[in-house]
Amino acid sequence: MMMIRLTPVMTLAALALAGCANNAGARPETAPSADVPPPATTPAANDAQMSAVAHPDIWPSPKWPLKHDPATEARIAALVARMTPEEKVGQILQADICCVTPADVKKYHLGSVLNGGNSGPYGDDMAPKEKWLQLADEFYKASVDKSDGGVGIPVIWGIDAVHGNSNIIGATLFPHNIGLGAAHDPKLIERIGRATAVEIRTTGQEWTFAPTVTVPQDYRWGRAYEGYSSNPKLVSDYVGAMIRGLQGPPSNGPLLKGPYVIASTKHFLADGGTEGGKDQGDAKISEQELRDIHGAPYVPAIENGVATVMASFSSWNGVKMTGNKSLLTGVLKDRMNFDGFVVTDWNAQGQVKGCTNTDCPQAINAGVDMYMAPDSWKGLYKSLLAEVKDGTVPMSRLNDAVTRILRVKMRLGVFEAGKPSSRPYSGQWDQLGSPEHRAIAREAVRKSLVLLKNSGSVLPIKPGAKVLVAGDAADDVARQSGGWTLSWQGTGLSNKDFPGATTIWKGLDDAVTSAGGKATLSPDGSYAARPDVAIVVFGETPYAEFQGDRQTLQLSPRLLDGPLATMKKLKAQGIPVVAVMITGRPLFMNPVLNTADAFVTAWLPGSEGEGVADVLVAGKDGKVRYDFTGRLPAAWPATAKAHGDVLFPYGYGLSLADHPAWQTLSEDPGVEAADSGNVWLDKGQPAPSWSLLVTAPDGSDETRVTATPATALDGRVKIATVNSDVQEGARQFAVESGPATIAVGTHSPVDITRETNGELMLTFAMRVDSAPAAAPTVAMACGDGTCDASVPLPMPLATGSWTTWGIPLKCFADRGMAMDSVAKPFALNLQGPATVSLSRVALGTTADRKVACPE
Ligand code: BGC
Ligand code: BGC
Repeated sequence: MMMIRLTPVMTLAALALAGCANNAGARPETAPSADVPPPATTPAANDAQMSAVAHPDIWPSPKWPLKHDPATEARIAALVARMTPEEKVGQILQADICCVTPADVKKYHLGSVLNGGNSGPYGDDMAPKEKWLQLADEFYKASVDKSDGGVGIPVIWGIDAVHGNSNIIGATLFPHNIGLGAAHDPKLIERIGRATAVEIRTTGQEWTFAPTVTVPQDYRWGRAYEGYSSNPKLVSDYVGAMIRGLQGPPSNGPLLKGPYVIASTKHFLADGGTEGGKDQGDAKISEQELRDIHGAPYVPAIENGVATVMASFSSWNGVKMTGNKSLLTGVLKDRMNFDGFVVTDWNAQGQVKGCTNTDCPQAINAGVDMYMAPDSWKGLYKSLLAEVKDGTVPMSRLNDAVTRILRVKMRLGVFEAGKPSSRPYSGQWDQLGSPEHRAIAREAVRKSLVLLKNSGSVLPIKPGAKVLVAGDAADDVARQSGGWTLSWQGTGLSNKDFPGATTIWKGLDDAVTSAGGKATLSPDGSYAARPDVAIVVFGETPYAEFQGDRQTLQLSPRLLDGPLATMKKLKAQGIPVVAVMITGRPLFMNPVLNTADAFVTAWLPGSEGEGVADVLVAGKDGKVRYDFTGRLPAAWPATAKAHGDVLFPYGYGLSLADHPAWQTLSEDPGVEAADSGNVWLDKGQPAPSWSLLVTAPDGSDETRVTATPATALDGRVKIATVNSDVQEGARQFAVESGPATIAVGTHSPVDITRETNGELMLTFAMRVDSAPAAAPTVAMACGDGTCDASVPLPMPLATGSWTTWGIPLKCFADRGMAMDSVAKPFALNLQGPATVSLSRVALGTTADRKVACPE
């Protein structure tokens, strides 16, 4: 819930806010705090025995905007009457293109396909745009093929176009939702929705898994940036606009004749309300809070006729949403009049009590209409068919699910639309990343920037200025774009993967040059000619879903320390500093706030980095081109504690003319150690609360590697510091003879079950300097020594070059490792003589060499 405590710290911000009352006055819809609803605490909220059964009659009852058309209903009924049980079961399944062929779609009569974050046409996540359309045609043709006597219902393809058509190379990438929330501009949202729909249509898909209408209440959550705001009012103001943009005004269609796709509001319900901000976790909250905070956006979603709703992976009071009939049927469908269809999240059915990925009648019986069953569709097809035949799944329920899906397909007009490539907008590549769409994205970037500190007169940058642009995030489109960008995690990308995009550096360079000045890019802040001003761009690196979960509201030291040192150095030389932060969430930033003269939050701006320069750099005439109008979509913390003191409240944000006096802030984060974010060793250094260890294979004889040079195991192992891609970025272990184990470990074991389900890998960057005679193994172990599992590395090992290895976590799980209690996620067992160097150990999705799980 909304946690704004009045504290002395906050009074400072509140005073500053009072001093710039014009902000609030000029933008009534953003008036801070007035919009924040009172905490929805009720007696029930404190009741330990909170139930997971909803009471539909206390929920709102919005009006569904569409009337059933009798002719269409008759047509649907006639189709359903002709469909065999096999065709009906196929219709409610959605397979991932990783794991299904057009022939399967025909044979099993599948109703839908999707591409998950890491899937692309023909096995290529980075496939060019033409291939997406080509594959869409293949699936479509297979689905309508009636040669073996079926009804031939056209398939629809769902895609995560969550910030533009963001899986496709060359698409416009809009700011992620948190940045759009900062813009407080529903009309802009509708234009973004329209542009996104057109770009999706170019590649042939009909359905986007967006908008995310979550209302995050804990910004440690790795998906918080997918939500517009922590304030249900602001989220609700946006939802209708985004749905109208994507689907057009509510109508019975045919949507495919216009520039539209169908939308999906997700994730129903309280994905942003889980305890500790845990992804796929449990929202332990009262029904009132569930309704008033997390349920609020579904009212405008339904009033605007959203075609689909995605059920959440998460639980409410211990029960998975995907199996909660009182919410899916009682509240959403019966009480709130939702007349579209409900789709599960990625294999979420497998998490419902008593279910597996391939067997879960509970979900459809609870109100799910379509299973997102990426790789599990065939198993579900078999189990559901049997369950329909034996009555476990009532035929009436199956008919209702099919009817809902067909009604949405009728609304799309997909029966008459012909193959995807024949439809309006298909293959109109001038629309994908078009100048018009990029202009909207650039406007969104401008409007999303929030100015939190503005001391002196550093902003706007004056005409003719010599500007140093520093920071490791200044010239990096992937970094600007965050997760759900080309790949699931948004990792493994470089600027060349983003044709037509502009980095923040490029935008600044253009703007400074046109104003008669000179800009220089220097990531580490060094310079030959003394600059008049420096802009340091820094912040988070991309993540998606649970990979972004953190224990505290801190930026990892490996991302903060370098840029902060650069800022301090420049300040010491008398150079004014503007800090520009790339981030998916508000984080404890007091050291940077104290150091920099001005502090700008740019969130995750996407492909149009020049929107930043539009606001930061004055025109040639010295006049402001665009002022800051962005205001915080969520409170900014005074410490790294999740629900601690607030530094800047919701709605806060300065304009260029505001220069509130700065009082030095405490730099104490108020928490113990910064969070490792599943990076356990980086540049040869263990993360806080982690150790680099050398032991005997059974874990005894432990040496903690702190300073180097050092020795371990009675002098049999010599440890030195060596270079990796960076200077002194690795530790080298020379094992003279006998066995030795090199491990990273912690005293507080980590739970990486979700990461294992999410198909992540243990990755480590290693150079073999002199190879062992026998194959080394990589093990994982839990703290009490009761479990471990190991995987051999394939021989021979190449020597002399750095390789990032990846071992799927499921290899360890399959070999009996307890993934919920991992104390040593990495233990390399070597037999000397051998020498290896190690620079990084982390969870990840990319590697130079992937190890297959041993049989
Ligand atoms: C995510 C959804 C997404 C789906 C398909 C899931 O893991 O939670 O938001 O739409 O995958 O990629
Ligand atoms: C897929 C994502 C999905 C995730 C679920 C990934 O492999 O690419 O789309 O959301 O798994 O954990």
